[in-house]
Formats: sequence, C-alpha cells, structure tokens
Amino acid sequence: MLSTLLTALLAAFWIMVPAYIPNPVAALCGGGTPIDFCRNYTDGRRILGNGKTYRGLICGVLAGVLIGLVQIWLVGTYHWDLPRQTILSVTLLALGALLGDMGKSFIKRRLGKERGEAWPVADQYDLVVGAFLLTIIFDPAWFFAVVTLPVLIAILVITPVLHRSVNILGYWIKVKKEPW
Ligand code: CTP
Ligand code: MG
Repeated sequence: MLSTLLTALLAAFWIMVPAYIPNPVAALCGGGTPIDFCRNYTDGRRILGNGKTYRGLICGVLAGVLIGLVQIWLVGTYHWDLPRQTILSVTLLALGALLGDMGKSFIKRRLGKERGEAWPVADQYDLVVGAFLLTIIFDPAWFFAVVTLPVLIAILVITPVLHRSVNILGYWIKVKKEPW
C-alpha cells in the first residue's frame, strides 16, 4: 500500500518535472516585451498583462525541455524504473505549462484581476491543465500510458504543494513580488 503510494508520487513528480520548471524559470528570466505587446482586449483591459513576456515564455519552455532531455538520458543510461519521457512529451509538457499560465492570465484580466493578484486554485492548476491539454491533443498515446489514475491523483496532490513552496522561496529570494 505504502509502496504503491510512493511509486505513484515519484512517478507523478518525474512526469511533471518538465511542466514544473518553466514557471519558476520564467519568473527568474522574464521581462522585456509583453506577449500581448501592451495591447488591450475589447473590454479595455490588457489581453494578458505585463506578467507574460516573450523572454519568460522562451526561457521557461527551453529550460523545461532541457531538463526533460536530461531525464530521458538518465532513464536510458541508468535504466531507472520511472515513466519514460520522449522529446515530444517533454516539449508538450513545458509549452503546455506556460500556455496554461497564459490562458489563466487571459481569464484573470477578463475578470478584472490585476497582474499578480492571487486567484486560488487557478494559480496552482493552470500549468496542469495546459500541460495535460497539449499532451492529450498531440500525444494521447503517451499521456494515457503514463498518467494512470493513481498518478493523476498524485499530480493533483503534489502540484499545489510544490507550487506554493517554490513561490514562497521565490518571494524570499526576491524573484517574485508575491508569495503565490
Ligand atoms: N513571467 C514572464 N513570462 C511568462 C510567465 C511569467 O515574464 N510567460 C514572469 C513575469 O515577470 C511574472 C513572473 O514571471 O511577473 C511571475 O509569473 P506569474 O505569477 O505567472 O505572473 P503574474 O505577474 O502574477 O501575472 P498574472 O496576474 O497575469 O498571473
Ligand atoms: Mg502570479
């Protein structure tokens, strides 16, 4: 029982690493031209806001893919008994995580929430929704082979915990303006 639980938690973490990396890296490297080029939507508010930049998007996705390639290499070299990533899966996970983050910002702006304002639940799960959507659309075989029910539950449990911890850390080291 305990070992099944630990296996699912470890598998969940391993699968999601390429999706977890892009957000903190975007916070570290972000800045410069906003993705929406400072344009407003029909409601007069920003499309995405200054918190979504090209530099953050590109650095974040590259970092997620790079870590994913290291994972692929590790499992291949040391034959670790962990879920297998592919170049496609890690790319979809990394890109999906930040597309999910952008989608969330788009909806946040439509709801009149300012940049950086907390939006509980959405702030924690946007990356999961984006990463899952992209992998389900473009690599469903990988997704359904790897994300079993116990792994899915484990992902839903560990994601908010990691999200919160990393953001508090980012706030302490003054990389993030808010601890969420
Ligand atoms: N960031 C970026 N580009 C992205 C995502 C994030 O440059 N595509 C950087 C920004 O500097 C941003 C920081 O990472 O301020 C933290 O990201 P996040 O919390 O997602 O953005 P918020 O500033 O909170 O904006 P929002 O309210 O739109 O979520
Ligand atoms: Mg935020």
